[in-house]
Amino acid sequence: MNDQLLDLAGGDRFADVRQLSSEHQKDHGCGLHNAGGPVMSTVAGIVRSARAQRILDLGSGLGYSTLWLADAAGPACHVTGIDADPDHTQDATLIAAQQGFADRISYLTGTVADVLPTLTGTYDLIHDDAWFADKPDHLDTALDLLRDGGTMTMASWFLLFDALTQSQQEKWESFAASGWQQRTVDYAEHLATRSDIAVHWITSPPVGIATKLDGPSVDLGSPMAATSFRRTPEQVADVVLAWQRPDRPFFAAGACHILARQFTRRHPDFTIVAIRPKPGWSGNHVFATNGTQAFDFNGMSSEADLIRANVEASRAESPDWEFELIPATGEFDAFCRSINCRTASLYPGDVEARADNFINSITSAV
Ligand SMILES: C[S@@+](CC[C@H](N)C(=O)[O-])C[C@H]1O[C@@H](n2cnc3c(N)ncnc32)[C@H](O)[C@@H]1O
Repeated sequence: MNDQLLDLAGGDRFADVRQLSSEHQKDHGCGLHNAGGPVMSTVAGIVRSARAQRILDLGSGLGYSTLWLADAAGPACHVTGIDADPDHTQDATLIAAQQGFADRISYLTGTVADVLPTLTGTYDLIHDDAWFADKPDHLDTALDLLRDGGTMTMASWFLLFDALTQSQQEKWESFAASGWQQRTVDYAEHLATRSDIAVHWITSPPVGIATKLDGPSVDLGSPMAATSFRRTPEQVADVVLAWQRPDRPFFAAGACHILARQFTRRHPDFTIVAIRPKPGWSGNHVFATNGTQAFDFNGMSSEADLIRANVEASRAESPDWEFELIPATGEFDAFCRSINCRTASLYPGDVEARADNFINSITSAV
């Protein structure tokens, strides 16, 4: 029935690549099991309705899934496929060119866990076919890279239905070892209980869909301390390394003052304030405030809660940590220098534009 419906919806434009992928898998006995037309057609529908443009394809194989994603997202999109097997990414690159998609698709070779931390900016949609039964070690990093409101589509959830219905019990043991049922259910429960996403499953074709919830808004009372995203000494010393961090960590630590500045440009009723530790202590943080609500990488929270979160985190490390609140007055660059922060011109890219994009992605409520 799923194949009939796929035909009804226009068929599989990349059936030849699916065929190649299947033959490659048989010849090499590797883990390249393509997701199949019905799954990718369903994911393509999600790509279109989400108007996704910046897309990641985790476990891209020969690019069957990548082509479906790029076709659905249209000519202005870019899809980055990641696969640990260099033969896969090499063949996939040739295939993307043969299919006329060279300008929309590129591939990176390496494990997803190794490659994701090297990426910058946020993505509208991440398709994850690089896991089997176990919660993947790249999950948190992938969700960090997903923009608020972005979507993660997941193949391989046939495992959950087989675990719950107790079918195919032997079949998956050779791929996922014994105990795959419980580990699959554990992963599903993990996704379902996270507060930063909402997850949904459909059974036929089997697809998991997780939507990243909007950033904190006015009524979310538990902001995180900026020290949770503290830079490494290398990232402190090298602004290029700091720039490569995903948006949330980048604007939590190292560019919080630029974020606050851009926010106050849009919201003149807000002013900029720095939490400045007394000499000898670390724990600088800058936010925008209207006296009751404060804005930083958390989105909007109560100013009192935001200050409390930062003070408690610093005092958990150093019980006698002290600070003062310094309002930004006068020329902004001079203020940056006075609190040991980089001025906008010292970043390797347009940091104000990046802050504007980040604000857009987290401020549906303001
Ligand atoms: C199930 S296949 C999916 C292929 C492709 N998405 C498709 O539908 O044709 C999984 C692919 O992910 C790759 N892979 C599996 N785990 C990976 C990981 N942790 N990091 C990078 N690649 C991985 C394998 O080499 C394989 O090509």
